[in-house]
Amino acid sequence: MKPFRRTLLVGAGASLLPFGSSVAAALIVTPQQTEGPFYPTSFPADMDNDLVQVRGQAAQAMGTVLHLQGRVLDVDGRPVDGALVEIWQCDSQGLYDHPRQPGRERRDSAFQGYGRTLVTADGSYSFRTLKPVAYPGRAPHIHFKVATSSGRMLTSQFYIAGEPGNERDGVFRAAARDPHQRERIEMRLSPAAGLESGALATRMDIVVA
Ligand SMILES: [Fe+2]
Repeated sequence: MKPFRRTLLVGAGASLLPFGSSVAAALIVTPQQTEGPFYPTSFPADMDNDLVQVRGQAAQAMGTVLHLQGRVLDVDGRPVDGALVEIWQCDSQGLYDHPRQPGRERRDSAFQGYGRTLVTADGSYSFRTLKPVAYPGRAPHIHFKVATSSGRMLTSQFYIAGEPGNERDGVFRAAARDPHQRERIEMRLSPAAGLESGALATRMDIVVA
C-alpha cells in the first residue's frame, strides 16, 4: 500500500506545478517589480514596523490601518533567517515622503511612510501600516524590498485583491502573469479580529529565489 499512496501524493503535488515538474513541490517565487521613483532618499528618524504611529507624535496617521504579516521563505518553504524587510508607500492622500513628490508639503506628517524590520527565527515579519490608496496612474500598492543575509535581494509590490484598478495597472499586469504569481502579490484583506478594532489584516508570504 505504501508505495502506491506515495505515488498518488507525488502526482497530486506535481499537477500544481508548471511544466509537469516531478520534483518536490517548490513554492512560486514572489515576482520582482520595479522599485519606482519613490524609495526614500533619506530615512525617517522613526523607521520601525509601525508606520501608523510616528515616535513623539500624539496623532495617528489618517487612513485605514492594515496589519501586514507573513513570512520570508525560500522555494522549499524554509524560513529565511536574518532577512531584512522594508516597506514604503504613500499616505492616505496619495502622497509620498519624497523630493520628487509634487505636493509633498501637504503630506500627512503622522504617517511614517517607510518602515523596516528583521524577520524572526521562523521567518516572520509584521507591519502596522495603512491600506494603500490609488494615485494617478497606479492601483493601490505597498512597495517592499527584502535583503537576505546571504545577499539575495527582492524588490516588489503588494496590491489589494479584487481591486478593479489592478487590471489597468501595467506594473501589476507584468508581474501577475499567472494565477500563482498573482497570489504572491494580491493581499486578501479581512477584519483584524483580535488585533485592532476597525483595522484590516492580511498574510503575505514572500518567497525569494
Ligand atoms: Fe508607488
